[in-house]
Amino acid sequence: MTIDSTTQTERLLAWYDRERRVLPWREDPSPYHVWLSEIMLQQTRVEAVKGYYARFLDALPDIASLAAAEEDVYLKLWEGLGYYSRVRNLHKAAVQIMEEYGGEMPRSAKELIKLAGIGAYTAAAIASIAFGEPAPAVDGNLLRVFARMTAYGEDSRSEAAKRAAGEYFLPMMVVERPGRNVPGDLNQALMDLGATVCVPNGSPLCGECPWSEWCEAHARREELLYPVMPAKKSRSVQELTVFLIRDDERIALRKRPARGLLAGLYEYPNAEGHLDAAEAEKYVRQLGFEPIRIRSLPPAKHIFTHKEWHMIGYEVRADELTPPPSGGGILLAQVSEIRDVYSVPSAFAAFTERVIVGE
Ligand code: ADE
Repeated sequence: MTIDSTTQTERLLAWYDRERRVLPWREDPSPYHVWLSEIMLQQTRVEAVKGYYARFLDALPDIASLAAAEEDVYLKLWEGLGYYSRVRNLHKAAVQIMEEYGGEMPRSAKELIKLAGIGAYTAAAIASIAFGEPAPAVDGNLLRVFARMTAYGEDSRSEAAKRAAGEYFLPMMVVERPGRNVPGDLNQALMDLGATVCVPNGSPLCGECPWSEWCEAHARREELLYPVMPAKKSRSVQELTVFLIRDDERIALRKRPARGLLAGLYEYPNAEGHLDAAEAEKYVRQLGFEPIRIRSLPPAKHIFTHKEWHMIGYEVRADELTPPPSGGGILLAQVSEIRDVYSVPSAFAAFTERVIVGE
């Protein structure tokens, strides 16, 4: 059954008025707030983002303070959220906004997309929510709703699918309602619909959907066949041996290279492969430390998008750590500094827990 865009808009906005999730960035959707929340939400669940969002804004309340912040400060605020290039780009774009846009966030998706870290989705989300531009923010939620509504039979991950979804939603966003930001509300309604009703895993709750009577997949009872997603490539596995090298006060850390995975963050010294105790001792000596005791730690695993780390670890006691003459980028940190100063990514969380608990 087909329906005109205006009716579809009305029905979804009425549903949004009743069912919308109360979220901190919806209270005061200034451009900076919307931008920050969208970047945090890119790879992270709403519930996990809330605390980070509040903390980040307490420390860096506006674009100017973000642009002026030191790297270690914004990395620390991001610690645990992962995908750190997001916050590096956030900072880079804040500098761009101060230098090239007079400190004002650009207002259109076309301009926003020129900023570091802002792609088509984020540009549309900011332009619509903060500035009312009719621009569908096509993320996984919108794609899924679109694919089910139209029984879209092609690969939903493709650029063609994103374009088709954008063309499907755009006419609904140009409907005018005085006093209402229709594009921003529709995008967020679709995000909520996708997250709470037209859900990705398990059966969607079609009985609660304001659009179910026009949904092609529902009419065919084929909701679970959409969106069509070809199998993902499998992740590569990397084996690592992680070292907690410490004396009574301090622990060895190393800054990761400026480029690549987890760039510029701090890590416990580690080596490729799973080393046995003898190899581990040799490695620690090569780093320039004198071990007095080596104890093996429980293994840990961390899953990135394209890679898995399978880690084993050793706790290495030294009498008194001195900075190794070889350097190797190693520094000695107080345990309290691992909590408060140095950003050690959550890939090492199992090891950090031991460091902090053992304090
Ligand atoms: N996911 C991404 N952006 C969102 C938003 N503005 N509201 C809810 N979920 C989201």
